[in-house]
Formats: sequence, C-alpha cells, structure tokens
Amino acid sequence: FEVTWDASAADKGGWSSFMAKEVSEEPEAVANTLRGRIRDGAVTIPELDGLDDLFTGISRIIVIACGTAAYAGMTGKYALEQWARVPVDVELAHEFRYRDPVLTPDTLVVSISQSGETMDTLMAVKYAREQGAKTVSICNTQGATIPRESDAIVYTHAGPEVAVASTKAFVAQITALYLLALHIAGLRGTLSADEIAVQAHELEAVPEKIAHILATEQERIEQLAHWMGDTRSVLFLGRHVGYPIALEGALKLKEISYIHAEGFAAGELKHGPIALIEPGQPVFVIVPSPRGSAVLHPKVVSNIEEIKARGARVIAIAEEGDVAVLPSADEVLRIPLAGPLFEPLLAVVPLHIFAMGLATAKGLDVDQPRNLAKSVTVE
Ligand code: G6P
Repeated sequence: FEVTWDASAADKGGWSSFMAKEVSEEPEAVANTLRGRIRDGAVTIPELDGLDDLFTGISRIIVIACGTAAYAGMTGKYALEQWARVPVDVELAHEFRYRDPVLTPDTLVVSISQSGETMDTLMAVKYAREQGAKTVSICNTQGATIPRESDAIVYTHAGPEVAVASTKAFVAQITALYLLALHIAGLRGTLSADEIAVQAHELEAVPEKIAHILATEQERIEQLAHWMGDTRSVLFLGRHVGYPIALEGALKLKEISYIHAEGFAAGELKHGPIALIEPGQPVFVIVPSPRGSAVLHPKVVSNIEEIKARGARVIAIAEEGDVAVLPSADEVLRIPLAGPLFEPLLAVVPLHIFAMGLATAKGLDVDQPRNLAKSVTVE
C-alpha cells in the first residue's frame, strides 16, 4: 500500500484542475466581491470614500483592459451607460496607448486587470494619468502595480486565480463594474435610491443563480463537450450584453482547446458570418430573455432559425421557460431568470464549463495552455 501525495493536487482541493476549482468558485467570487458593499439596498464602496470628485464631474468613461478583462469591460459599458448615463468607450489597452487618444480632466479611465501587472494595461493607465485623466482600477491582486498607479481602486475578491484562462475573476470584474456603475449613478443622481436598491438586490441574487447552473447543467455540458471532442470550429453569437459573452466564450475555447472559435454580434450575422454556416457547424447562441428583452428576443430567435435552416448545430443558452428556442435549437442550456443586465453573469458559466470540458475531452492541460502566460508583463 503506497500513499502518494501531490502538492499541486492538494492545492486544487480535490478538483481535477485549478480551472475546475475556479469555475466552481464563481458563485463565491461574486458574493465576496459584493460583501460589505451593499447595505439595505444602498451601494457603499469603502475604498471610494472621500473620492466623490473622481466621479461627479466626468463627461466620459474609457474602460481599458486586455483579454478576458476587456470583455468584462464591454459588459460593464451597458450598465455604466444605462445607470450612470455617462458615455463609455471600451478599448484594448495596447490600442489605446499608441493612438494619441483625447484625454481631459473630465475623462475617467477605468482599468480592469486580474493580476494588476499586465504591462499593456499598466502603460495605458500611466499614460492616461500623465494626460490629466482620472483613473480607477478594478483589480484582483492586493498591492499590485496597476492599482498603485491609479487614483482609486475597487478590488475584486475572487481569491487567487491560478489557471491561465480567467474564469472566476471575469464574473467578479463584471460584479465590481456594476457596483461602480451604481455608485456613480447614486452620486450623479441618475438613479433614485429605490432604483439602486432594485439593481443591488438583483446583484445579490446572482451567486445562488450561478450555483444553480453549476448544479443542474454542468454534467450535461461536459457530456456535450465530450461528444464534440473532434470539433474543429465553434461560433458564438450574442446580442447586447450577450455579445461580449459570445466573445468570451470564443476566447476561452481558443485559449484552452486550441480550436478555431469566433464570437459575433448576432445582428452582424447577415453582414458576413452567415456565410460560414455549413451543415454541422456548431453555433452557441446566447438568447436574451423574452420578458426582459421583448424587442431583441424575437430577433435572436430568428437568427437561430436562419442558421438552423443552413444546417448549423445550434446550442442555445436560454432562460428557463423560454420555449421559443425549442423548435430550432439542437440543445438548450438553461439559465435562471434575471434582469437583462444580469444575464451575462449567468450565460458565461455554461461557456466556461464547455471550454473546460472540450479541452479535457482532447486530453489537454486546461490550467497551463501552450504559449500563454497568466500575466503578460512585457509589451
Ligand atoms: C493574459 C491571460 C488572460 C487575461 C489577460 C489579462 O493574456 O492569459 O487570461 O485575460 O492576460 O490579464 P489581467 O491580469 O490584466 O486581467
């Protein structure tokens, strides 16, 4: 009888990989990022105490980040614009830095970085500050360089993320951006206290909904990924807040499964991507809620019909009870009911599970994908 003990397995807490552990921690990542920041429906971010000036006089926000963090930023744009009524641009840090962007003292630059050390993002923050813009960083690592170079910090509390491909940090970043959006909306008076309380309550309900997806859908998604082990290309379609989630779903698959994956805005389908559809092409479609997005829901359902008619294999991610997707979708992965802005925090979970499942089916190391680094500290 031999006892073998493996230090890295111990750190994984019994999970097969850090990524599996970290996906399972997505509910806590959101809950811990919210902890102590919502009281009786009011959003209070202690780190921003005394820093109201950073937010009250701004006329625009530029979000800068790289990789998954940039997709969190794209998702946050919808909430920032809808709640705080400030125009928001989201830019890849390396593109932003080298194109002479217009920055004024009433520009707020929000950087997002899990590690807080990504060189491209750091250089963009430094540049923005030199040009006189205000800077806030959203970061998962205490004491990292990017927050030290910023006027203010909102930490995500996802806990250490070890797997190269970001998962739990992504949902924590969106959560922090939503808290920031509600904070700014409160200061600028663009939402009433009651309206803020409604959104805060929705945020507080997210961890349990993610846990529900993990409990009810994970096995089925892993099975689906297993069957699709030989797939060479996967497309992802999403609209509105579903669009950055389509991009994130595709990125995760590229990063750890090494297969061609592309995300598109569903409305672009007829402007090009539909030409890619041939019989058997797998397409994930993130379907907006029929209740929350009465205008967009039928449009996305008709996208599903269009690609199905051309032979696509459609995997829909749809709200529980949405029967409109049933006739044309080959598979339907269910997410619990939530307000439209909160759907991305749920819809991304099946995509993280799928990417991990497909990489596992191919026998790949999901934690340490080839050619990639967790933190890119060179330009
Ligand atoms: C690298 C990682 C990605 C990550 C990106 C940004 O490319 O492989 O997973 O999304 O950097 O990292 P950051 O630490 O700035 O969020």
